[in-house]
Amino acid sequence: MPGATTTTPTSSLSSLFGPYLEAVCRRSTQALMACGHRALLVHSGSLLPVFQDDRTYPFEVSAPFKVWAPLAEPDCFVYFEPGRRPVLVFNQPKDYWYKPPAPPEGYWTEHFDIRTCSDRESARALLPADLGATAYVGEAFAELGTWGVAAHNLPRLLRHLDFGRAVKSPYELACLREASRLGARGHLAAQRAFAAGESEFAIELAFLAACGLREQELPYNPIIALNEGGAVLHYQVLEKTAPAGRHSLLIDAGAEFGGYASDITRTHSAGDADFSALIARMDTLQQALCDGVRAGVDWREVHLRAHTLTAEVLREAEIVTCGAEEALAAGVTRVFLPHGVGHLLGLEVHDVGGFMRSPEGGDIPTPEGHPHLRLTRTLEEGFVVTLEPGIYFIDSLLESARADERSRLIKWSRVRQLRRFGGIRIEDDLAVTATGCENLTREAFRAEQACGSRDAA
Ligand code: GLY
Ligand code: MN
Ligand code: MN
Repeated sequence: MPGATTTTPTSSLSSLFGPYLEAVCRRSTQALMACGHRALLVHSGSLLPVFQDDRTYPFEVSAPFKVWAPLAEPDCFVYFEPGRRPVLVFNQPKDYWYKPPAPPEGYWTEHFDIRTCSDRESARALLPADLGATAYVGEAFAELGTWGVAAHNLPRLLRHLDFGRAVKSPYELACLREASRLGARGHLAAQRAFAAGESEFAIELAFLAACGLREQELPYNPIIALNEGGAVLHYQVLEKTAPAGRHSLLIDAGAEFGGYASDITRTHSAGDADFSALIARMDTLQQALCDGVRAGVDWREVHLRAHTLTAEVLREAEIVTCGAEEALAAGVTRVFLPHGVGHLLGLEVHDVGGFMRSPEGGDIPTPEGHPHLRLTRTLEEGFVVTLEPGIYFIDSLLESARADERSRLIKWSRVRQLRRFGGIRIEDDLAVTATGCENLTREAFRAEQACGSRDAA
């Protein structure tokens, strides 16, 4: 699973992985004790067949399995008993239609007792005969009922396991930095393709080629939107022909390394000075929000501050007819910024545990009127979050606003002028520290740009 073009030396990953795995073992031991189970069995996932066909969907490894090992193969298992070396049951099917995976190798394998199976039946034979005190985490495959596990995806156990995933270890931060490096490399190639007048599809191909990853190896399908498409938050079309007029590109695309994701958005103007200035203004806003990120900050406050600053931008850009305070109070900022300002990032792009008050239970609510915020926890050192303010010209939301009292607060001629650009989002990935944050994305762009200029010299 680690990408082919890593810039992190394997020796450093190797020295970081051992302490990381020890911490995973400690977390899992505590979770098992809290729930009264003696062992944990985690499944990587299965290949899912397409209806009435002999093909399968692209394999997606489950995140709880990725916690243990950077391995993306179906029907593998990790079995863990506190105090013992974790067992990896590695599935190497006997198959001549598909190439069986090579035995795992690399910096992480020495930490496991690796046993090789060729299907689920032989996997079961490599596990303890009695799984009566073992908690199972993963999908329910057909034979699971006969395996005799004590519990299946116990919510209390999952909660204990998931809560701790928010704080990233040095090993995880190394993987996330590498994912950011690959993502930045892809973004620079995509920007060049946009400048060359390419279609959305060709821009995606440029992104993939630069990252050295196929689409199914990415943490999410890239959002690559020219012009009005930028107003669709998770735009998925990938038009194969370039539009006649080129105004803007909103690209939200990340890469993956060691199972960890980057999640990066940039917006580019084809040259219109007014829209370029608005992008620059949103970049300043985004950086001001980044400056306020540190351990101890309630993420809901960051989100609400994004709305306060957005109201100011809407006023300055004459998109609203009123003052910033009135726009905010009337809910007008939510017409232009209808998503959360960021989320936890890690093994999943929208990582688990964003609302959890504690491993034992209880969720922290979203602020009233902001149901789409995915993170309500107070930041801790080691959290990795995205910070992604934006403004968009979304027809359906604008129509609703036009039909009520918000209508008089919006300058409709200005909206008509800007609508063809779709929207702006600027998204960086931040590793929270005691006193601030490390901007993984900006560091990655700096490093990749420095490499690019060295290569050109
Ligand atoms: N790429 C999806 C998001 O930014 O949350
Ligand atoms: Mn995001
Ligand atoms: Mn994104």
